[in-house]
Amino acid sequence: MPDTKRADMIVHEQEPYNAEPPRSALLDDLVTPVETFYSRNHGPVPRLDAGSWRLVVDGLVREPLSLSLDDLRTAFPEREVTATLQCAGARRADLLAVRDIPGEAPWGPGATSTARWSGVSLADVLARSGPATGAAHVGLEAPDRSPDLDQEVGYGGSIPLAKALSPEVLLAWAMNGQPLTPLHGAPVRVVVPGWIGARSVKWVQRVHVSAETSTNYYQDKAYRLLPVEADPTELVAGAGFALGPVALNCDLLSPPDGARVVAGTTTLRGYAYAGDDRSVVRVDVSTDGGRTWRQAALQQDDHGPWAWCHWRLDVALSAGRTEVVVRAWDSTGALQPRSPSDVWNPKGYVNNSWARAGLTVL
Ligand code: MTE
Repeated sequence: MPDTKRADMIVHEQEPYNAEPPRSALLDDLVTPVETFYSRNHGPVPRLDAGSWRLVVDGLVREPLSLSLDDLRTAFPEREVTATLQCAGARRADLLAVRDIPGEAPWGPGATSTARWSGVSLADVLARSGPATGAAHVGLEAPDRSPDLDQEVGYGGSIPLAKALSPEVLLAWAMNGQPLTPLHGAPVRVVVPGWIGARSVKWVQRVHVSAETSTNYYQDKAYRLLPVEADPTELVAGAGFALGPVALNCDLLSPPDGARVVAGTTTLRGYAYAGDDRSVVRVDVSTDGGRTWRQAALQQDDHGPWAWCHWRLDVALSAGRTEVVVRAWDSTGALQPRSPSDVWNPKGYVNNSWARAGLTVL
């Protein structure tokens, strides 16, 4: 286990390291401590030397660049953004209960965490380089390779130029005021607030401006929502659609499914989050399996538009079994889908169905 993580992480894989915190740990603070923040890796963590690290900016640009960490720090204004990262595989465990998804880890809600990221805006760097006519997408490339794939190149993906030019997209070197750890992408990673975690490329070394989306495996084959009948063992380039902005989601973080609670007042707590230009406006909680609903109090503490919110509601429970159901609404009036079977897909991404937990009240 990396020594930077808490001892009670739920480890899905030791090498490469894939782990999430226990769900209640996400409630300690709206800003997740680094030791608690989930980590998702497709290959061994590269150990890059900050002194010799360079960021190449090339492709459809008027002036290609090669920048050191010092260049980034001195030539561009430093910015800080509090942003939630959510892995597209978060809450897959509930999809696995619907139908098996071979080879994919049973991530819970803990594959969602929030940090204060500091660095420079990718937009400022792109402005220096000058996107040329025809530029429409920005490829982000890193050196790490998955041992399971015959990859010619490392991890990567792309975001549309319009998102890359939004000031919140960072080339970040610090997380919660501390230099990035190797596990989280040192010396520099991309942070794409409001988009699936997969686009926040760690250990970034190249920013490649192009007319097309990236042909990298993780853009062209993985992190795509495939039709239900697709064969996940024969991934076809361009099948389904590439995931981008994070879907409206929520979960109950305390008490957990299966818990025993004492009759009387119990506080239910959790998180809710909506990606890109949406925000969570309401969280409904039911303690009778979805027949009646009450609204939870939302806490966001002015962390800005890219951070999740926590929610809480005191409920009076009497002895017996209670089914808690939680659902969120976003600023477009969208409501989460009702059940995991509505959203099941062959790679098990984006389970944003209503959260459910059974409690025994003593
Ligand atoms: N970047 C690189 N280079 N390699 C990776 O395996 N994993 C991605 C993304 N960036 C990944 C990467 C995925 S799927 C997620 S969810 C986030 O990093 C996780 O970031 P974290 O480990 O800092 O929590």
